[in-house]
Amino acid sequence: MKSDFTSSIAEDQRLVEATLPSFLPLDGSSDVLLDAMRYSLMAGGKRLRPLLVLMACRACGGNPDDAMPAACAVEMVHTYSLIHDDLPAMDDDDLRRGKPTSHKVYGEANAILAGDALLTLAFEVLATRIHPPAIAAKCCASLAYGAGPQGMVAGQVLDLEAETNHAKSVAQLENIHRRKTGALIVASLEMGGLIAGASDEQLKHLKKYGQLIGLAFQIVDDILDCTGDAEVVGKNVRKDAASGKATYPELVGLEESRRHANNLVHQACDELQIFGSGAQELSDLARYLIERDR
Ligand code: IPE
Ligand code: IPE
Ligand code: MG
Ligand code: MG
Ligand code: MG
Repeated sequence: MKSDFTSSIAEDQRLVEATLPSFLPLDGSSDVLLDAMRYSLMAGGKRLRPLLVLMACRACGGNPDDAMPAACAVEMVHTYSLIHDDLPAMDDDDLRRGKPTSHKVYGEANAILAGDALLTLAFEVLATRIHPPAIAAKCCASLAYGAGPQGMVAGQVLDLEAETNHAKSVAQLENIHRRKTGALIVASLEMGGLIAGASDEQLKHLKKYGQLIGLAFQIVDDILDCTGDAEVVGKNVRKDAASGKATYPELVGLEESRRHANNLVHQACDELQIFGSGAQELSDLARYLIERDR
């Protein structure tokens, strides 16, 4: 995959690409399940969340090799969320990461189950590959919180509810975005910090940075739906308005959305001051998030 990043970040991305398939089971009782898991996981996403795990670990003085299982685990959870997000009962999309969506290739039941399997495998990887066990347990709790009924899943429910419930305010929208997208980003940073043995103060700033870039990231996702090119973005565009989604461009317009995303990224970079030069790549990544075209 072509990388949008500077060489050290691109190197992390290559490592993630190479390591991810090593956590997939070699055999199971179903070839179609393993094929479907691999199909979506290895379809070439930006790998943003794994990068955040590795960078947070480095910023706190840890060894990113120790964090690689957590980097891969959050990418599995994210990929599961995409498979389910694309299902006919949710956003009903047929293009993802430049390829037909899982349910178009494997059928709805297998797509649901491939998502379930990636979600479950992520926690097996954390529990067995992160050391010591006390840190593995904290990572499991962090990822579960980000992905679960107060995080991503809750955000997805609110996102779907907002299609028919038209009382949309900026506060309501922020709540949806913070949960459906921000929560997994916060968990990525927290896991990287935990594995590095970060202090409570460091964890607090990493998580605040995550909340701010998480919101900016979803605002840019909403903007790309309005302005992007499906060939470049790798998914269908101009769908949010047609489905009545609650988005920033819909609520405050494109210009204000861009301004807000920029402000959030500036605030996020301020949170990195306590890390000194060790967090340069986290601020580079934050800036990439608002300049990206996919
Ligand atoms: C898409 O996430 C879904 C959102 C939470 C906005 P990404 O834009 O990170 O998708 P990939 O992983 O690069 O495909
Ligand atoms: C999805 O938000 C967030 C997830 C938890 C997957 P979107 O529905 O806007 O993501 P895309 O645009 O389909 O990637
Ligand atoms: Mg959605
Ligand atoms: Mg969607
Ligand atoms: Mg979107």
